[in-house]
Amino acid sequence: MAIEKFDAVDLIHTKRDKGALGTEQINWLVDAYTRGYVGDEQMAAMTMAIFLNGMGRQEIRDLTLAMIASGERMNFDSLSKPTTDKHSTGGVGDKITLPLAPLVASFGVAVPQLSGRGLGHTGGTLDKLESIPGWRADLSNEEFFAQLEDVGSVICAAGAGLAPADKKLYALRDITGTVEAIPLIASSIMSKKIAEGTAALVLDVKFGSGAFLKDPARSRELAETMVALGKDAGVATVALLTNMNVPLGLTIGNANEVRESVEVLAGGGPADVVELTVALAREMLALAGQPDADVEAALKDGRAMDTWRAMISAQGGDPDAALPVAREQHVVTADRDGILVQQEALPFGVAAWRLGAGRARKQDPVQHAAGIDLHAKPGDTVTKGQPLFTLSADEPERFERALESLEGAYEVAEPGTPFEVQPLIADRIS
Ligand code: URA
Repeated sequence: MAIEKFDAVDLIHTKRDKGALGTEQINWLVDAYTRGYVGDEQMAAMTMAIFLNGMGRQEIRDLTLAMIASGERMNFDSLSKPTTDKHSTGGVGDKITLPLAPLVASFGVAVPQLSGRGLGHTGGTLDKLESIPGWRADLSNEEFFAQLEDVGSVICAAGAGLAPADKKLYALRDITGTVEAIPLIASSIMSKKIAEGTAALVLDVKFGSGAFLKDPARSRELAETMVALGKDAGVATVALLTNMNVPLGLTIGNANEVRESVEVLAGGGPADVVELTVALAREMLALAGQPDADVEAALKDGRAMDTWRAMISAQGGDPDAALPVAREQHVVTADRDGILVQQEALPFGVAAWRLGAGRARKQDPVQHAAGIDLHAKPGDTVTKGQPLFTLSADEPERFERALESLEGAYEVAEPGTPFEVQPLIADRIS
């Protein structure tokens, strides 16, 4: 039996007692955990020690590199165009990847979006796209590269080969209360993005009710940590700090989010979805060498839509097919005249999930037509009896639990109540 270089218990003691782990120690720990020598119980103690005591910049960098080294690293040198990618930390109604990837690709840039499926109240990009008849998320390497070259944008499932240590560690963190540690989140996200091989990366780091980290100061710290990790690894990285107190756009679900994305690609769509799509596209294109790209024009004149259609067709989908519609609807109306002053993202995300738009277990299917359509946004004047939102589900039994999660989540205040819309983009970190 080979002699191991370190002892997991010693490393746990170091972190427990607020010490710093060295590069060799972190490399060994990640490798030994990936091959099963270090057990889940030891790694759980380590992640809790990291959660409580943090990590220094060098430790976070070492952890990220060790997780990248646990798997394969993609390389886009053979492509004739520059690559640029975006990652969002996730939120309610966050469908931005759908219009964004083809919009940016319409400028001759490659956008390799390796995405995931949703778990809990935040939806997954692949779940949304799978509501398009025929569309498939799994591509071979050859198909992936050919589509990047021909169409420019690809949104598909990440292969199991990228940062497998992160996969194992994330599953462990999920069940041990150690997800919300900034060193662990930053290294988890950035190990996958760096392994994916993009030359440039724009991060959409959210804060507020529906975000992963609610506190803006913690989101800022996460953004700064990830930008530093990207730059250290030679990836041009920028982050936008964005508000997730209110759902993005007017749809939460899968098929309805695709519908709204297509509206944006047709030059319309809700103002907040357009604002964020345009801001992220500008950042991605600037990093790819096109700081003056007229992004709005590409939405208005159909170029982004043409790329969307090509992208969906290349993955077997029919861009003209009707999207699924739920069997049952339940409309909630305003009980007075006034101003909508509250629409809290998290309860709306939970309600959509309870309607069947999300999954409680990895293996569960999602119901593509389930979800919520919002008919008013905070700051809007409403009249008594006016629809505020519509719940959609295939099974009407789901409405009751969805409505329970929405109790106290929205409020119509007296006419004339002062209301200030919060800016969507709070800051930019580079
Ligand atoms: N997303 C990830 O990929 N990893 C985390 O740790 C959190 C969110």
